[in-house]
Amino acid sequence: MKRKEDYSIDWSDEKIEAFRKTLLDWYDREKRDIPWRHTKNPYYIWVSEIMCQQTQVATVVPYYERFTQALPKIEDLANADEELLMSLWQGLGYYSRVRNMQIAANQVLDEHGGEMPTSYEGLLTLKGIGPYTAAAIASICYGEVEPAIDGNLMRIVTRLFALDDDITKVSSKRKFRSIYKQIMDPDRPGDFNQALMDMGAMIMTPSSPYPDPHPLKDFDKSYELGTAHLFPNKPKKVKQTEHIIYAYVITNDRGEFLLRQHGEGELNTGLWHFPLQEQLSIQEEADYNSAFINWLDEQEIQDFTVQPFKQNKIPTVKHIFSHRIWHVERVIASTNSFPAPDGMAWVHKQDIKDYPISTLQKKLLKGL
Ligand code: ADE
Repeated sequence: MKRKEDYSIDWSDEKIEAFRKTLLDWYDREKRDIPWRHTKNPYYIWVSEIMCQQTQVATVVPYYERFTQALPKIEDLANADEELLMSLWQGLGYYSRVRNMQIAANQVLDEHGGEMPTSYEGLLTLKGIGPYTAAAIASICYGEVEPAIDGNLMRIVTRLFALDDDITKVSSKRKFRSIYKQIMDPDRPGDFNQALMDMGAMIMTPSSPYPDPHPLKDFDKSYELGTAHLFPNKPKKVKQTEHIIYAYVITNDRGEFLLRQHGEGELNTGLWHFPLQEQLSIQEEADYNSAFINWLDEQEIQDFTVQPFKQNKIPTVKHIFSHRIWHVERVIASTNSFPAPDGMAWVHKQDIKDYPISTLQKKLLKGL
């Protein structure tokens, strides 16, 4: 049955054949001589793939050689002491990756009789092995037709087929996998994956959408259309800015809160909040008092009396809007019942439910 995520490509069988031949002939001539290309030991391929996820191949080579010399067998990794592991990984970063590898090595000893699982699905059950790594190992070591699509290969696939799908979406990745699987060479899947990795590192690099020479140019739709520089489509995340906000939790001698209704042009227009004030920087504890007094002055509130207060250790409330992250600190003060300024009202605690309030205000009311 055809599933929604299966996408048929518009290449003829002859074109697919020609693509495989062109790519693999190029690979056979030009491929990089890398130590792990002389083995099909799944443990070694696994080590190389995990290392390559964070660093360029040329940098990885000496790390790979040291690691496999120090820990030549999977049981050596399972039993290695922490200090040795850390020293072998030092400089590569992301230590959780090597820690996960050690956990997975123990899984292999305990659950698989010391042999790495021999299928894509089996590899996926190991700690820290995701679709990319499982596909790389299964295609290189076991000849399984599994696409090992990382960021580089995503760039190549989207350029070849001029696919403008947002590459950060899971649905797009499914689509790329489906398309990639249709062009993979079933006789040499490991070489096919690695040929495209080399193509991505050496020819179709991020900065060269129109390489010259371009071994795959007859198959590169975006190159032909002159749109290669637009791929892959990775929408920029809007940068969120962070803000420190004080929420003045002001109670009077009648047990009422001072609330303020947000006006036009403010976030949460029309909703009622404790009065909020953005701070330019994180204030020391001692400044809560003066910040509050200044705020009262700015509101032209007169005839107020404030009981000296100390900031309680109530937790900061984090609130995320689309472009902003607010860290809201509740500043708690007791005052007399001065007349509420325009747009504000004294509201008894049990009457707050009659006022429209925001999710943020609900969070701020909690734990008071
Ligand atoms: N990057 C990650 N794995 C690789 C491999 N097997 N060959 C080349 N580049 C890679």
